[in-house]
Amino acid sequence: MDATQLLIDQKIVPVVVVDDARNAVGLANTLAEAGLTAIEVTLRTPAALEAIELIAKSVPDCLLGAGSVNTAAQLQQVKDIGARFAVSPGASAELIDAAAKVALPLVPGAATASEVMTLQVAGYSLLKMFPAELNGGTAWLSAISGPLPSATFFPTGGVKPDNAKAYLALDNVQCIGGTWIASRDAIKAADFAAIKANACDALDLLEPSKQS
Ligand code: 3PG
Repeated sequence: MDATQLLIDQKIVPVVVVDDARNAVGLANTLAEAGLTAIEVTLRTPAALEAIELIAKSVPDCLLGAGSVNTAAQLQQVKDIGARFAVSPGASAELIDAAAKVALPLVPGAATASEVMTLQVAGYSLLKMFPAELNGGTAWLSAISGPLPSATFFPTGGVKPDNAKAYLALDNVQCIGGTWIASRDAIKAADFAAIKANACDALDLLEPSKQS
């Protein structure tokens, strides 16, 4: 199955910033044990590529993605080291062109109707919405579903336990992500107990009986 579909099936994707690659495998295993098998490792630290490589080798069942993938070279690089999908905050012509050649599913970012339409023409139906809260949050998503009903979104940026259910309740939201599950500080401290507790709480958001 296409990794993008698997991502959609996961519904909740921890977005992680890894400063020390030695914590990467413990992090991925902790999230998987809790039931979160998708993870987006952002290319924002010098350790990110090594972290992706280590997770790909040691946690093969992890639906491993690379985030903050902004260039064609990064797209190729993360594919080569084992990422199964890539996420970008936006979409440049260079990146979209590269994605058509590199066999790696990409979730490009869109924040305006024109950007959504441009990416739809390029063949994308799942789009990252970033930074979700600053760009209008659930109100923007509801509004855009009128004129652009076939566009679906993976909102991140300001998505947290107190607003996650509102995002998940929208028909045009396929999955959500954020750093609240495994914060940069918790990863740095290898505080896997706290990360596991947050992951379990995040999964509770998907329980129908607990939907508000
Ligand atoms: C991302 O890259 O998707 C965001 O930085 C995550 O945003 P958050 O820290 O507000 O969850």
